[in-house]
Amino acid sequence: MDYINSVKKQFDKIQNKENVLILSVESSCDETSVAIVKNGREVLSNVIASQIDIHRRFGGVVPEVASRNHIMAITNVCKEAVKIANIDLKEIDAIAVTYGAGLMGALLVGVNFAKALAYSLQKPLIAVSHVHGHIAANYISHEFLEPPFICLMVSGGHTALLKIEDYNRMTSLGTTVDDAAGEAFDKVARVLGLPYPGGPEIDKLAQTGENSIKFTVSNSLKNTLNFSFSGIKTEVVNLVHNLNQKNEKINKADIARSFEECATDELASKAIKACIMCNTKKLVVAGGVGANSMLKEKLQKLCTENNIEFFSPVLKYCTDNAAMIGSCAYFMIKDGLGLADLSLTAKPNVEL
Ligand code: KG4
Ligand code: ZN
Repeated sequence: MDYINSVKKQFDKIQNKENVLILSVESSCDETSVAIVKNGREVLSNVIASQIDIHRRFGGVVPEVASRNHIMAITNVCKEAVKIANIDLKEIDAIAVTYGAGLMGALLVGVNFAKALAYSLQKPLIAVSHVHGHIAANYISHEFLEPPFICLMVSGGHTALLKIEDYNRMTSLGTTVDDAAGEAFDKVARVLGLPYPGGPEIDKLAQTGENSIKFTVSNSLKNTLNFSFSGIKTEVVNLVHNLNQKNEKINKADIARSFEECATDELASKAIKACIMCNTKKLVVAGGVGANSMLKEKLQKLCTENNIEFFSPVLKYCTDNAAMIGSCAYFMIKDGLGLADLSLTAKPNVEL
């Protein structure tokens, strides 16, 4: 029997299987990660080889360098994940992989590795969207969390408010019309001379600064659930350039604090507005910027005031990791979705 027919039968069977063990692979940007996840919520292992130190000297991710390092790391990361989970590869029910969105060359390493593994083990291959994975990170961190809920998706590549109707059904309530929130954090950090990745650096520095500078977000989007971060980013860049030209002192901590206050006010207030509009009592944050301490504080405060339950992933599942991909794949399998054949390829852009 050929590969796809053999795995289709297994795929149908695992939909109703009591315990489902998934090996998942993530390589969309600068983290090479493999995880073993049981029943979508229990992480047996989640190994991440981060390339942050390699890309730091360039001030951002260099795509070709990222893919080369994924190739060098992926086999050992996988071996380590299997070893920590203390399982035999034969016990795995399916292989899941991020096929997009992300850097083409980086994604291809994970996709081809997962295809080879799926073929050699004769196991179903599940194609997972990176953004959907970020949402699923919350199912790992919160054992009893179930849809429906509103999700504030904030990463380096995406910023959106989503109505999660079911595990595999969602509608977009609003998105960024220009930059993603993470992009703005990274750009502001860069202009302040902070190392890559900028988000966590702004988070730290802002804690020592004053909210003394008035930055603004676009007024034209005030009555929508859309976001714009390019304006505030440009305001910061212009301010720093002006101060530099006049040889005046740059108070980096105050700039970081004022920028962060402005950006997180916008994100938090619109997230709550979405919950109120949809009459939803659960708000979930997902993606790397979801690790931001001020954003989480504001979301928690506004949720408490409005009688909404607030959920955020444990820090290590906020940024890129394979466990969230394994979790997402589990809920896809249960709905009969995601089975890919060996023609699966990487996609730099994927619809929300
Ligand atoms: O979700 P993620 O790891 O990768 C993408 O899918 O893009 O998000 C990375 C983004 C980067 O822009 C990074 O600066 C930002 O998340 N980030 C943060 C924090 N930790 C990571 N931004 C603000 N505060 C943080 N603590
Ligand atoms: Zn991500």
